[in-house]
Amino acid sequence: MTESIPVRIFPDRTEASRTLALELAALIRTINESGRPAVLGLATGRTPLPFYGELIRLHREGQLSFAKVITFNLDEYLGLPGNHPESYRAFMRRELFDHVDIPAENLNIPDGMVPPEALEAHCAAYEELIRAAGGIDFQLLGIGRTGHIGFNEPGSPRGSRTRKVELDPITRQDAAPAFGGLENVPEYAISMGCGTILEARRIALLAWGAAKADIVKEALTGPVTDQVSASFLQEHQDATFYLDAEAGSKL
Ligand code: F6R
Repeated sequence: MTESIPVRIFPDRTEASRTLALELAALIRTINESGRPAVLGLATGRTPLPFYGELIRLHREGQLSFAKVITFNLDEYLGLPGNHPESYRAFMRRELFDHVDIPAENLNIPDGMVPPEALEAHCAAYEELIRAAGGIDFQLLGIGRTGHIGFNEPGSPRGSRTRKVELDPITRQDAAPAFGGLENVPEYAISMGCGTILEARRIALLAWGAAKADIVKEALTGPVTDQVSASFLQEHQDATFYLDAEAGSKL
């Protein structure tokens, strides 16, 4: 293996999620004890589900409070209202926010219904909110089969910021079952840029299953290139991959 990113391979996703959830709970406590809120960057999709399950469990056991946590989600589909079940706003409520003590005013997700003429200002304001919160302490990532982090599809520059992006055909195909057919999958999204993500102080990328093994290998050991935006993580000071045995099977 020649990769420069630390890789932790676990027997299964439950164990990986449990480990990272305990680490994040400790980080939140340390930051809160220093007298400020912890700022988290969050992801959606299938990958974080067991991780959010572990965070909820820790909260229920009294080991983790989100009272002093501010969150920024990576992305949102354009054209979906927040009450659409496949919107990332609805996803986050269902899978995490409704089950923990996070104040509603601390949640930030790009608005998928922003009108075209207001889109640029909305994206700039999102960046400004992240800056005003003091930057992201911990960024959670999944990886798409195109190598995307957030929805930074191939060709997304290293310095890109929050903006409107066009979804790759592979990404839309992967989302088709959840939307009940390709024709229902939005073509565009708003996504934090690679530059936005890389400014997070600590980054954890999760990947499960054999379908991710090739792109995980490419991101870790291939060239740093805008054709695989996860490869930019090779240049980050504190990024770690948390994999199950199958996602790590090609390393
Ligand atoms: C989600 C996101 C995407 C997903 C990626 C993997 O907010 O930004 O980068 O992390 O598409 O999706 P799943 O986890 O469904 O395989």
